[in-house]
Amino acid sequence: MIEIKNIYKSFGNLEVLKDISLSIEKGEIVAIVGPSGAGKTTLLQIAGTLEKPDRGSVLFNGIELIGMKDKKLSAFRNKNMGFVFQFHQLLPEFTAQENVALPALIAGTSKKKAMNKAAELLTQLGLGERMNHKPAAMSGGERQRTAIARALINDPEIIFADEPTGSLDSANRHEIQDIFVDLRDRFGQTVVMVTHDSSLAAIADRIIEMADGKVLPPAIEVEFETVDVSEEESFSIVDPLDAGRYGSENLVGDSIEEVGQSVD
Ligand SMILES: Nc1ncnc2c1ncn2[C@@H]1O[C@H](COP(=O)(O)OP(=O)(O)OP(=O)(O)O)[C@@H](O)[C@H]1O
Ligand SMILES: [Mg+2]
Repeated sequence: MIEIKNIYKSFGNLEVLKDISLSIEKGEIVAIVGPSGAGKTTLLQIAGTLEKPDRGSVLFNGIELIGMKDKKLSAFRNKNMGFVFQFHQLLPEFTAQENVALPALIAGTSKKKAMNKAAELLTQLGLGERMNHKPAAMSGGERQRTAIARALINDPEIIFADEPTGSLDSANRHEIQDIFVDLRDRFGQTVVMVTHDSSLAAIADRIIEMADGKVLPPAIEVEFETVDVSEEESFSIVDPLDAGRYGSENLVGDSIEEVGQSVD
């Protein structure tokens, strides 16, 4: 669905993305993880055409988006892409329903149709009773579900989410996770998300790790079949979310010693 090829991006002297290539297939949830400053948000914004790369190509179902004129690109984005950010970015002066309806109105849908669809989506996301509230009168979880409804209103082919659970407590984080799983399983929704939340990354079909402006090669599972450790002492040495694995001291370290002790 989306193919990103040889993307480079610098801010001044700072090289933030260094030759990134990856592709996203229809119906998959992809999580982009990695340390702060790795370039995750920049990559997501380039994939979502909110930011332009210095070099490289972003193909959407075979259509080159880099170089498309701004007006055409915003219309394309509005129709095909939905965005969810860490801080909901709802407009404070509008109700939840109006906020959700907005991208549909921009796309030229009639007010009646847009408002009906917004109500339908909000109801599906458990906010039927809250749709006339303004963001200030909603909880963090409710606002984020409203932002998801807004991302869905134009039936986008893909949703980009940057730390969608970053400002939520654990109950609300789980609700958002369940929504993404449901969207994929029931509607084949494609989702690309950036997250530091390991339980959210765990629902992904694929995890892409970034560090220092590059995509890391996929982690290889290492198994120690000859070491006899009990169930609770066994471990996987490669945790894709454990940024510490880039440091050799963490790759061996405590875990190996523990195994050593348990078999002594
Ligand atoms: N508009 C900008 N102007 C200058 N520097 C920027 C800009 N946007 C990002 N950067 C820098 O680019 C680097 C990568 O930023 P980015 O936001 O992509 O990181 P990230 O992986 O999303 O980090 P985090 O996990 O903290 O959100 C950082 O060093 C950041 O300071
Ligand atoms: Mg970021």
